Amino acid sequence: MKVLVVGSGGREHALVWKIAKSPLVSQVIAAPGSDAIGHIAQCAPIASDDSDGQVALAKKEAVDLVVIGPEMPITAGLADRLTEAGLLVFSPSAKAAQLEGSKIFAKEFMVRHGIPTAGFSVHDTIETALEEVDRRSGPCVVKADGLAAGKGVIVCRDAGEARQAVREMLGERRFGSAGDRIIIEDLLQGEEASVLAICDGKQALPLIAAQDHKAAYDGDTGPNTGGMGAYAPAPLVDSAMAQRIADQVLIKTVTGMAAEGSPFKGVLYAGLMIVNGEPSVLEFNVRFGDPECQPLMALLEEDLVPVLVAAAKGEITQDRLQWHDGAAMCVVMASDGYPGAYSKGHAISGLDRAAEDPDVTVFHAGTARAGDQFVTTGGRVLGVTARASDIGTAAQKAYSAADRINWKGARMRRDIGHRAV
Ligand code: AMP
Ligand code: GLY
Repeated sequence: MKVLVVGSGGREHALVWKIAKSPLVSQVIAAPGSDAIGHIAQCAPIASDDSDGQVALAKKEAVDLVVIGPEMPITAGLADRLTEAGLLVFSPSAKAAQLEGSKIFAKEFMVRHGIPTAGFSVHDTIETALEEVDRRSGPCVVKADGLAAGKGVIVCRDAGEARQAVREMLGERRFGSAGDRIIIEDLLQGEEASVLAICDGKQALPLIAAQDHKAAYDGDTGPNTGGMGAYAPAPLVDSAMAQRIADQVLIKTVTGMAAEGSPFKGVLYAGLMIVNGEPSVLEFNVRFGDPECQPLMALLEEDLVPVLVAAAKGEITQDRLQWHDGAAMCVVMASDGYPGAYSKGHAISGLDRAAEDPDVTVFHAGTARAGDQFVTTGGRVLGVTARASDIGTAAQKAYSAADRINWKGARMRRDIGHRAV
């Protein structure tokens, strides 16, 4: 089989790494991929959001399966274009991707189908939004409706912060048209988990639960980022909780989307808050999480490819996936300043030494090759990922590998997995 993976980040590096191990696969193509991905796949210089280019590539290479990594091409309809061209695609249609593309669509969908989520209201004018803030007069969460690169959610401790958030979104238009409409919702207090499922339009095959660390600094402080590290399994989600999440969230979502005429095929990612033993959906994503994908791929024992093919064909038959025992952790190494402004082009040292441990894999997110070394090109640079018999050992291995890597301004959180270790 020939498989095309669309994207270029750490998540796509992990997907390519796992797919390339499949005995069914003779060639993996990544578009655009990256210099690091180029070590294990063939890269084609076509941007993720160049739909014409991606469709032409998939047809020319006659690939047997396409997997789309990032949300932008998915919400823009790349899966629809590829499907129309006769290709087999593991990713949702633009219509199904509204679950991520519009937070208002997702909230209203959850209400229609009795899926647990925080109480909320929708606003498109500053006046009604500020009235709602005054009416609540306490903490709340203000969210832009559309895609905002993970930055469109502002958790507000009091009405003052909420007023400020409303003005930024509806007044100053900080998120452009993604903030044309906003949500004001109840602030939930509990523990977060990410539960992903591979869906075939009718059924949901859950992955083991993961936990991301979105805040930039230790102790969950500082601004939100795309994710500073993740691990799996998340002990918070025991088998009873996993069953509850499957029943109350994953199955209801897949069944509901099918009933509404937009069957969901691909990865359904439920970002959850567990409040007093009850799961509540904070958000849906329609793709693998980044960095959750990295430890999940490290921990998945069985071949991913037949699962993706079955899902893409609408024919999932298995009800569970086979995982390695133990746990996996990904520590993200970032550029100093991220998620704000940061400098690039710094030479990275120690990659070879970090990879000496066979349980460690370093996935590249923002790097490029310059001569005989890698240099930094992004905010999130590397995802140092380790698998071990338990989460404590995985943390030790990931951090001792990460400590061998350096560049000017390298930074990481020191407390990934602290809740589980
Ligand atoms: P989202 O992109 O919607 O997952 O939001 C990003 C982060 O904001 C989440 O991972 C949570 O930490 C936080 N968040 C979102 N919604 C809520 C909520 N209703 N209550 C508390 N925290 C929230
Ligand atoms: N790590 C969170 C996300 O991929 O959205």
